[in-house]
Amino acid sequence: MITLKSPAEIECMRKSGRLTGDLLKYLEKEIKVGMSTKALDKLAYEYITSFGATPSFLNYAGYPASTCISIDDTVVHGIPSDDIIIKEGQIVSVDVGVILDGWQGDAARSFLIGECSEEKVKLVNITRECFFKAVENLCDGTPLGDIGYKVQTHAEANGFSVVRALTGHGIGREMHEDPSVPNYGRKGTGIRLKTGMVIAIEPMINAGTFKVEFMRDGWTCKTQDRRPSAHYENTVAITDSGAEILTL
Ligand code: MF3
Ligand code: CO
Repeated sequence: MITLKSPAEIECMRKSGRLTGDLLKYLEKEIKVGMSTKALDKLAYEYITSFGATPSFLNYAGYPASTCISIDDTVVHGIPSDDIIIKEGQIVSVDVGVILDGWQGDAARSFLIGECSEEKVKLVNITRECFFKAVENLCDGTPLGDIGYKVQTHAEANGFSVVRALTGHGIGREMHEDPSVPNYGRKGTGIRLKTGMVIAIEPMINAGTFKVEFMRDGWTCKTQDRRPSAHYENTVAITDSGAEILTL
């Protein structure tokens, strides 16, 4: 069931969205070579709670942290750990979610740490571009399939592949609401977006195969071929004046 948000509710999601976006800017500033992913997660927890908000990931289906921090061949849902140290040359994807006054925000960025290979730089840039291509001209009436079509076309035109096993999602009072928002698909297909819908659009793009594997911790999702992956996500509201990105 898709729940439409009123203008007043979207105003609330602007606030949770802004906090989510600001948190990612703060983490981008703080992320350093030699730091553990657990230390970065702790900064996120402290930042979120200092604004009276709640980290939405913490205890979600038993998830043990406030962020997902996914390095190189980890696509998403990397669990922060004292034993995982951030190193030069890595793609570090940081996914965060907050609840402020009962409303969710969800966003992710892939950070390039220091000097990275040409392939990694291109992968991170194309993944971000996939998001912006998908959002371009998005409005009331756009078929949902156009989002996946645009992401997939841009990723594949650049020699990369689109993860199928995980998708974007509706978002509101819950982190995961209907509809599911795939990063692959055909133009003109699916339900039509409507004013009041709020969705998380989150391309997960792999350098090699689109296939992924889940590790035995039940969370960590890696590329099957262990080549790198990147992730870029924002919470997006459909309003009468088009798509509004709430988490930049
Ligand atoms: N941000 C992720 C998503 O978009 C969710 C993280 S899973 C969690 O679906 F368990 F950590 F919350
Ligand atoms: Co999400």
